[in-house]
Amino acid sequence: METRIQKIDPENFNDEELKTACEILKSNGLVAFPTETVYGLGGDALHPEASSKIYAAKGRPSDNPLIVHIADKESIYEIADEVSEKAEKLADAFWPGPMTMIFKKKEIVPYSTTGGLDTVAVRMPSHPIAMELIRQSGVYIAAPSANTSGRPSPTKAEHVIEDLNGKIDMIIDGGAVGIGLESTIVDVSGDIPVILRPGYITAAMLEEVVGEVKIDPAIVGKVMQKNIIAKAPGMKYRHYAPKGNMAIVEGDTDNVIRKINELVCAHKEKGQRVAVIATEETKDRYECDIVRSIGSRKCEGSIAAGLYDILREMDHLEAEYIYAESFENDKLGSAIMNRMIKAAAYNFIQA
Ligand code: TXA
Ligand code: MG
Repeated sequence: METRIQKIDPENFNDEELKTACEILKSNGLVAFPTETVYGLGGDALHPEASSKIYAAKGRPSDNPLIVHIADKESIYEIADEVSEKAEKLADAFWPGPMTMIFKKKEIVPYSTTGGLDTVAVRMPSHPIAMELIRQSGVYIAAPSANTSGRPSPTKAEHVIEDLNGKIDMIIDGGAVGIGLESTIVDVSGDIPVILRPGYITAAMLEEVVGEVKIDPAIVGKVMQKNIIAKAPGMKYRHYAPKGNMAIVEGDTDNVIRKINELVCAHKEKGQRVAVIATEETKDRYECDIVRSIGSRKCEGSIAAGLYDILREMDHLEAEYIYAESFENDKLGSAIMNRMIKAAAYNFIQA
């Protein structure tokens, strides 16, 4: 299949530019588009034909449900059953924006979209292209991240092209996204909201609006917990991982740098290709041929925005061993660490 690639300026575009994308969505085709978190692979959420194409293009297990994207708050009542007062408050506080809520589903939402579950994930994105695409097409858009299943999520159109060119109808290139990590997922189907995936909207931000919030035990901690199954099916799969063997090195900055330099030296002696994921503050202190800065510790947002691009670059560089610094496990840092831990398959080294 030939994939149309269309550049659209998120700051300045008109209805005409989205026309083809809307036609494709209305006829059960697939369009990848930017959101404020990551690029999504969109199809009509209410038509099983579209969702089965999404699973096929991504190579995604069909028990891993999709997020339904809406453009106005009223749409939740068409898709979700039992919208609690807390859910209303969260919607008012954080939509449009990087938060997804899990509700009991209404009958119009097919099981092919929810991976067979009786619940549905809903999000109202704030990106102007995503918003307009939903509005203009009149379609509730099911959209997982627009990557091949298991690879890092796409933060640029180039990443989508790398994974999905030739497999979908269209890719809208709206430039690099702002946040760079997928939305926070909150299950609001019970009394106390539960975070199923950490993201830009932190537990503290949610608690300010609705009081107590729980965190799914499967997503905390640095060891894989054998008997705890993640409530967001997607969180149980291997994810975001580069092809090389990645480890996160923890400890005081000086010790971390010393330890990584030792490890690099040992790999070099064996003729192995090794890379370091550093920060702006530390990148010049490594004795390694491949050192990449993920962002500045003074701005966690820059680290979130740079993470997936760096993980993909590690594959382009054919790094066999990858050592990364670790980050503070709170606020946005907990979302960053959650993705890094999965990319490193829980591989930690103490310095
Ligand atoms: O930021 C985002 O959320 C991006 C953009 C495109 O909106 N989308 C995204 O979708 O990250 P995806 O499919 O890559 O991740 C969706 C996650 C998966 O872990 C999935 O298991 C979980 O949401 N999920 C979806 N429906 C669910 C449900 N009914 N119950 C529990 N988890 C659900
Ligand atoms: Mg994904």
